[in-house]
Amino acid sequence: MTSLSNTVAIVTGGSSGIGKETALTFAERGARVVVADLDKEGGQAVVEEIEAAGGQAVFTETDVTDPDSTEAMVETAVEEFGRLDYAFNNAGIGGTQAPIHEIEPEDWAAVVDVNLQGVFNCMHAELQQMQSQEDGGAIVNNASVLGKVGFEGASGYVAAKHGVLGLTKTAALENGETGVRINAVCPGFIETPLLEAGGITNDPDLRKMIEERHALNRLGTSEEVADAVLWLVSDEASFVTGEALGVEGGYLSQ
Ligand code: NAI
Repeated sequence: MTSLSNTVAIVTGGSSGIGKETALTFAERGARVVVADLDKEGGQAVVEEIEAAGGQAVFTETDVTDPDSTEAMVETAVEEFGRLDYAFNNAGIGGTQAPIHEIEPEDWAAVVDVNLQGVFNCMHAELQQMQSQEDGGAIVNNASVLGKVGFEGASGYVAAKHGVLGLTKTAALENGETGVRINAVCPGFIETPLLEAGGITNDPDLRKMIEERHALNRLGTSEEVADAVLWLVSDEASFVTGEALGVEGGYLSQ
C-alpha cells in the first residue's frame, strides 16, 4: 500500500476504540498524526505509544461540536506539521436509547450534535485547508451500518449517521475538481468501549443476538475498520469518492 511518509493525518475521537487504532495505523504507515479528542489522558497515551514506536504525533483537545475548536484542530495540524493530507472524522457517541415518543428532545439533539454537526464542523475546517494545498487530500467520515438501516431505540444515532452519508456525498460532489476525495466507512458492531457503554458487550445474550445479525457471526475489530480507512485515503482508491464502504461482516446481506 502507498507509503504515507511526509503526510499529515487528523483523527478525531483518536483517544479510544476505532479512532485510536486508526491513529496508530496511520503512524505505522509513516504519517504524522494529530490525535483530536475531548479525552486528554487517553489521547496523550496514544501520542506516547506512537512516539515510542518511532512515529510523530501530537494531541489537541477538541470538541467537535464547537466550530472554533475544530478550526483550532486544523490550525494545530498546520502549525505542528505544515499541512493536512488526511482526516478521519470519527468522534461519536452512542446517545440515549429510547423510542422516539419517549426520548427527551435534548437527548436526541445531543447525539445529532456530536455525530452529525461534529462531522460538518470538522469538514468545514479541513476542506478549507486541503483546498488551499496543490495536491488536495482525502477525508473519511465514520458513519455506521446504521447510516443505511434503522435500529430500534436509536433514532438520533441512526438519523445522524444517515446524515453523515448525505454530507459525504455532497462534499464529494463539491470537491470533484479540488483534488479532495471524501468517503465514509459504515462499520457493523465493533468491539470498543462504546459498545461496552451501551451495555452490549457485557450482556452475553444481547451480545449473541447482535453477533448473529452479522453473516460472519461475530463483532468486528477496530483494526478491521482502520484498514478500510487507510485503503480509502490511499492512492489505490484514487477513483473512489462519495462512497459509503461497508465494514460490517455481512450485516446487510440478509
Ligand atoms: P469510543 O467510545 O471508543 O470512542 C469515541 C471517542 O470519541 C472517544 O475517545 C470520545 O472521547 C470521543 N468523543 C466523543 N465526543 C466527542 C466530542 N464532542 N469531541 C471530540 N471527541 C469526542 O467509540 P468507538 O466505538 O470507537 O466509536 C467511534 C466512531 O465509530 C463513532 O462515530 C461511532 O458512532 C462509530 N461506530 C462505532 C461502531 C461500534 O460498534 N463501536 C459501529 C459503527 C460506527
